[in-house]
Amino acid sequence: MIRINENYQSLQASYLFSDIAKRVAAFQKANPGKKLIKLGIGDVTRGLPDACIKALHAATDEMASDSTFRGYGPEQGYDFLREAIAKHDFQARGANVQPDEVFVSDGAKCDTGNFQEVLSLDCKVAVTDPVYPVYVDTNVMAGRAGNWNKETGRYDGLVYLDGNRENGFIPALPTQPVDLIYLCFPNNPTGSTATKAQLQQWVAYAKANKALILFDAAYEAFITDDTLPHSIYEIEGAREVAVEFRSYSKTAGFTGTRCAYTVVPKECMAHTGSGEAVSLHALWNRRHTTKFNGVSYPVQRAAEAIYSPQGQAQIKQLIAYYLNNARYIREKMTALGYACIGGDNSPYIWIDGKSDSWAFFDKLLNEAAVVCTPGAGFGKCGQGYIRISAFNSFENVQEAMERISAVLR
Ligand code: MLT
Repeated sequence: MIRINENYQSLQASYLFSDIAKRVAAFQKANPGKKLIKLGIGDVTRGLPDACIKALHAATDEMASDSTFRGYGPEQGYDFLREAIAKHDFQARGANVQPDEVFVSDGAKCDTGNFQEVLSLDCKVAVTDPVYPVYVDTNVMAGRAGNWNKETGRYDGLVYLDGNRENGFIPALPTQPVDLIYLCFPNNPTGSTATKAQLQQWVAYAKANKALILFDAAYEAFITDDTLPHSIYEIEGAREVAVEFRSYSKTAGFTGTRCAYTVVPKECMAHTGSGEAVSLHALWNRRHTTKFNGVSYPVQRAAEAIYSPQGQAQIKQLIAYYLNNARYIREKMTALGYACIGGDNSPYIWIDGKSDSWAFFDKLLNEAAVVCTPGAGFGKCGQGYIRISAFNSFENVQEAMERISAVLR
């Protein structure tokens, strides 16, 4: 008899964004022709940078000719891209990352979700709350999260680090030993950012507890404050205890093009039951080369073009465009009397809705035809909040804020 992985039975409802999509589809069915403005899922709306499009075209042409055609590439990514990443994203900021420590992939969601596979099922896992649901759900699937506890609204086997107004959504260090810690800065969903001093504390904790930090930096390109770190490797000692995830999705509009990467430093170790240190770089390389055949050649060329002078200028413009939307949303919500964080070094604005998250979501959907994301979908500490994303045209953002103002005033 074929049996299922029963851990999947412990997953709560469906994936947050599928839940939202269902409510949106029901609204659209009931209101045909009504223009819906989507500021929910963080999906970019503007075209790819011209430098990327040119590179995509050129690489596609190469694929047409027998002399320049490429079949399987290296699973870890082509050297041209890995070298550009190490140089521009890390070494230029004083962070020591070598090209062969970079693993190119088709998404940070997959990588943050998959990385736990190389770690023991006994690991004690800490997540912040609110949290990007992928970190929790993939540990539930693996069987690390224990049972869902209806009373606490949490999984018994996970350690939750509370983010709230008092701590500015920067949770304190765990008060019990944990082995694996998921951090995301600039944070999805709250838009909060961590200073170097704060990251130093996490690195020190990880070293003292022989723990591993999975650091999701998918939104680093939105940092405008020069004092904030873009990479955990700007912190001394982080190479021994942290893996970092990056993505071109929000940085360069690649949500539909698919390209991201993960950095696993050679010094980063995990241990066997008998205490022997094992290289995570070697383990991830083994996993990656077994289960993944690499990102397509034209897409890697498009990603490489981001690092050209033209590419850099174009993505700066793209990011500035979305950040201007974010500033506008934050100003309007603040003027309506709602406390906000995020939106300055992040494309997300985290808003205290002063009411149940899903009720607030439904109100904006049904009365303003605007889609946001209910904070409760990111965990218990998100209850009462909503997240508005800045990814849309400025015209749509303006219209959405007019409609929201009319509903909330
Ligand atoms: C979000 O809206 O939180 C993101 O788009 C999700 C993702 O990047 O997977």
